[in-house]
Amino acid sequence: MRQLLCKKTVVLRCAQCGREYSYEFRLRCERCGGPVDPVYSLGAVQLVESANPFERFFDLLPLENVPDTIDWPTGNTPCVRSDALAAARRFGELYIKDESGLPTGTTKDRMAACVLAQFAELGIESFVASSTGNSSTAFAFAARRLGTIDVHLFCGVDFVGRHADCVGDNVHLHVVQGDYVDASHAARDFALARGITAEGGFFNAARREALKLAYLEAFDEMPAAPDVVVQAVSSGMGIYGAYRGMREYMALGRLARMPRIVCVQQASCAPMLHAFRESSSAIEPHHVVPNPKGIAAAILRGDPTQTYPYIYRIVRETNGTIVAVDEAQIREAWDLLLRYEGIDADYAAAASLAGAIALRASGAIAESERVLVNVTGGRRTAGNRRDVA
Ligand SMILES: Cc1ncc(COP(=O)(O)O)c(C=O)c1O
Ligand SMILES: [Zn+2]
Repeated sequence: MRQLLCKKTVVLRCAQCGREYSYEFRLRCERCGGPVDPVYSLGAVQLVESANPFERFFDLLPLENVPDTIDWPTGNTPCVRSDALAAARRFGELYIKDESGLPTGTTKDRMAACVLAQFAELGIESFVASSTGNSSTAFAFAARRLGTIDVHLFCGVDFVGRHADCVGDNVHLHVVQGDYVDASHAARDFALARGITAEGGFFNAARREALKLAYLEAFDEMPAAPDVVVQAVSSGMGIYGAYRGMREYMALGRLARMPRIVCVQQASCAPMLHAFRESSSAIEPHHVVPNPKGIAAAILRGDPTQTYPYIYRIVRETNGTIVAVDEAQIREAWDLLLRYEGIDADYAAAASLAGAIALRASGAIAESERVLVNVTGGRRTAGNRRDVA
């Protein structure tokens, strides 16, 4: 480990009841089960000029040292102003944050590097995770590169194709009969039975904090704060991290105002939208989508009961919204990204643009507004490649 850049203080604060904990690996609040957010001493934050995101944003990350083992790209993705695309769909100003160039092709490479760096600091040598494919692919890549940590990845049988790159001496793939939710339960049981760390998904703060960096990078490049930010959601960990980052950047004077947060789901799997339309702050059984299907495979999470309340809160607070887009809208957005920006997007990532287009068409996003769309990934990930069924 390299030496500390500065002596920072990090406490963990429950997003639900406010209880504070000293910095440690903790997924949930002991008192109420809420997620715990790292809170930094913002008055002492210094962002340094560095091409290494862990160095540049170190003071805003839940790490005690800048990791010196992460020797692959984990950020600095392009944020482009797309005037042609904006003109085609009547946006005033449209910015695309393109996460597809990261090593496994998605924004999840940011979180895998941060989670593994934190586990290394804490002496955690093996862990269990589950995903619809992109997170696990990123974990597998990072674990292979480090070679020092054992990872057990769980997936539902329909998602095996999306885990084709989850191989390696220290990478173990477990296939479960059932969907994503069944896989995550199997992962939890396995972790308990073996006494291995369950990495926690949305509830792992290192994941959320790493994902926020895509937004902080974009804000640093944009000439002014966006009015609206748009991202496809599954658990919502990415957009929740972004919200925390936006609060921090506002406090630091680096972001002028809080943008409206727009979450996008695929219409065939839109439990958050169902709940949001009823102004429900929780997922009820009738919102859940069993065995969801759709082209935006990365966001096919039919039951976000555990995470939705926190997403509902930030969407309401920022005067944002949740929308759903159908397959035709996703394909159209995918085509636009390829044609105008040369981005071969993950369908989940294309859904973000499709959602922005739908809101612009309905007038919910005005022409005068500056919009930032997070294109969270490309189709390089195994399960997204054309050659994989
Ligand atoms: C490409 C891509 N975009 C968006 C998401 C949404 O993830 P979450 O809402 O859990 O941050 C995922 C999740 O796997 C993804 O792979
Ligand atoms: Zn609490």
